[in-house]
Amino acid sequence: MAIERSLILLKPDCLGGNHAGEVIGRFEKAGFEIRAAKLIALTDELLKEHYAHIADRPFFPEIVEFMQSLPVIVMTLQGHSAVERVREIVGVTDPAEADEGTIRKQFGTDVMRNVVHASDSVENAEAEIERFFG
Ligand code: PPS
Repeated sequence: MAIERSLILLKPDCLGGNHAGEVIGRFEKAGFEIRAAKLIALTDELLKEHYAHIADRPFFPEIVEFMQSLPVIVMTLQGHSAVERVREIVGVTDPAEADEGTIRKQFGTDVMRNVVHASDSVENAEAEIERFFG
C-alpha cells in the first residue's frame, strides 16, 4: 500500500449543519494525518478550475451558488491508499445510494449537498492540492 495524499473539501452543508467536527473525526479515526487545512471562500475562478470537468453541465451555476453560500474547509489528508480509502469513508455521490456508515449516507441530502468533495485519483489529488495550497 502506497502512502498517498487526498484533497477534501468540507462543503457548505457540512459547515452549515455543524458536522465538520464529526466528519474530520472520521478521517482521524481511520488513521489519516491532516497535513494542511484552511477555511476559505471559494472564488468564481477557483470553482471554474476545480469543476472544469462539469462546467458545461446545466447544474453548474447551482453548484457555484451553493459552494459560495458559506466558506468551505479544504484539507490535505495523508495515509495508506488515501485516495481510495477516503472515498470509501465518504461514500458515492448520491447520498441515497451511499453505503450505511458513510459520511454522505449519514449527513448528505442530495447529489449536490453531499457534505464532502474527495479527490478521485492520485493524479487529480496532486493537482487539487497544488490548486488549493500551492
Ligand atoms: S460526474 O458527472 O460523473 O462528473 O459526476 P460526479 O463525479 O458524481 O459529480 C461531480 C460533482 O458534481 C456534483 N453533482 C451535481 N451537482 C448538482 N446537481 C447535480 N445533478 C449533480 N450531479 C453531480 C457532485 O456533488 C460532485 O461534486 P464533488 O465536489 O466532486 O463531490
